[in-house]
Amino acid sequence: MLIFTEIKSLQQEIKSLKNGTTIGFVPTMGALHEGHLSLVEQAKKENNIVVVSIFVNPTQFDNADDLINYPKTIEKDLSLLKSFNCDIVFTPTSKEIYADNIQSQSFDFDGLEYQMEGKFRAGHFNGVGTIVERLFQIVKPHKAYFGEKDYQQIQIIRKMVEKKKLPVQIISCPIHREKDGLAMSSRNTRLTEAQRAAAPFIYETLKKAKIKFGTKNASEVLKWVENEFKNHRVFNLEYIEIADEETLLPVETKNPSKKYRAFIAVFAGKVRLIDNISL
Ligand code: PAJ
Repeated sequence: MLIFTEIKSLQQEIKSLKNGTTIGFVPTMGALHEGHLSLVEQAKKENNIVVVSIFVNPTQFDNADDLINYPKTIEKDLSLLKSFNCDIVFTPTSKEIYADNIQSQSFDFDGLEYQMEGKFRAGHFNGVGTIVERLFQIVKPHKAYFGEKDYQQIQIIRKMVEKKKLPVQIISCPIHREKDGLAMSSRNTRLTEAQRAAAPFIYETLKKAKIKFGTKNASEVLKWVENEFKNHRVFNLEYIEIADEETLLPVETKNPSKKYRAFIAVFAGKVRLIDNISL
């Protein structure tokens, strides 16, 4: 496994690959878990070589505290990636990516950026768009892999690729969960024991909401979820939304030709967790 911190040497390596070598790319912020590794596995199956980037991208954090406390486990990450036969790891510094201008570009994602995460994390998707486009320019992958855990992020990236006609295929991968249902996340390691023990409640609630959506309108289901979280001893509900999978616009009554998802964000103390479920 080759590890590069500089754009130039990574690109030299990529240029030296035999003509026709397909590159699968998995961008991450590190603190890797099985969710990330499932993306690497899928990329391995579908490409000749796999590049993983590990970069905690400052421009996508709307909260300084969250950026400072974002878990960093680089040695463990590298040994996990090696054991998954990753070919190339790119671990740039902030200076390498942004020089002295740590700023996002401004994107128009046709409104996808104003829903859910976009409402509560100002500038987040401009930061994501900026780093992902930059990484695509550097790595020039044929396929790039993203997890449905961050469903809105996938739709945003698909939109960017479509609008900018970027020559990369976006592959979405299912959510990996702990045995008790909690969606795997790097931030889970920041939960206290009590918060972690209570955390399956999030997915349990989503599953019940899915059943209710079979017979009830969205607003009734949302009210039910809000009530479940009211005065919860561990979690503060930030939002629950039922939205069209494509447009991410909130829905009230079902159209049988459309697909819907429920999206949730909750705080456990200062730790923010998100999850979603196909309805
Ligand atoms: P990060 O949170 O590290 O996630 C990297 C990739 O792993 C994302 O595509 C994310 O959706 C996926 N992932 C995380 N948890 C998952 C789970 N439980 N199951 C399946 N996939 C999961 O998302 C980012 O980093 C950043 O925004 C990034 C795209 C790297 C840009 O900085």
